[in-house]
Amino acid sequence: MKILALYASPHKPQSNSNYLLDVILDEINNVGGHQVLKYDLTDMTIGTCINCGVCRRPDSKGCFQKDDMPTIATAIGEADYIFMASPLYWWNISATLKGCIDRFYGIPFSFFHGKTIHLVMAGQSETSNEGYRLVKNTMQCVCDYIGAHLRTYFASASTLTIPAWDNETLIAQAKTIGRKF
Ligand SMILES: Cc1cc2nc3c(=O)[nH]c(=O)nc-3n(C[C@H](O)[C@H](O)[C@H](O)COP(=O)(O)O)c2cc1C
Repeated sequence: MKILALYASPHKPQSNSNYLLDVILDEINNVGGHQVLKYDLTDMTIGTCINCGVCRRPDSKGCFQKDDMPTIATAIGEADYIFMASPLYWWNISATLKGCIDRFYGIPFSFFHGKTIHLVMAGQSETSNEGYRLVKNTMQCVCDYIGAHLRTYFASASTLTIPAWDNETLIAQAKTIGRKF
């Protein structure tokens, strides 16, 4: 199976959400038989959707913007599973991931049909915080709209004193998710 992983945290060199996604992907790789392609969205040029409607015209060849979105679109079209990782920012996904999802508007939705989407969120608050629930609901609506299935939603809480890489419970949860593939 082909797996596409989209990272969307500017927290470098170590990001909680990216770390947990890597734990999941390492576990999937251990099982074998999968091909993983990773893109760090914070390193890519993704222009802001300006709602011009060009991508929606009947004769459209897609978005007019010359950036990295066609690379991501091709990878989405070829992937079987689409993973995303984002920090929780202001009860939402990061602006980087949101900007990329806005640009899904210019991709044929057939690229997503029947595919599964897997989202890893890292916040500072406990996972009972409203933000994780809002993100899950939003992603569920996005998936319904584009014809994909939200299969994994992993909400995680990390603090500066206990980051994800020092949190055995979160690491165990991530490994359990990875072993399901
Ligand atoms: C601009 C900004 C907004 C944030 N908003 C929230 C929030 O609404 N809820 C929360 O729990 N944490 C919030 N945080 C904390 C981050 O989600 C937290 O540090 C997270 O672990 C970062 O994940 P990362 O290391 O993958 O970037 C915010 C941090 C920043 C910089």
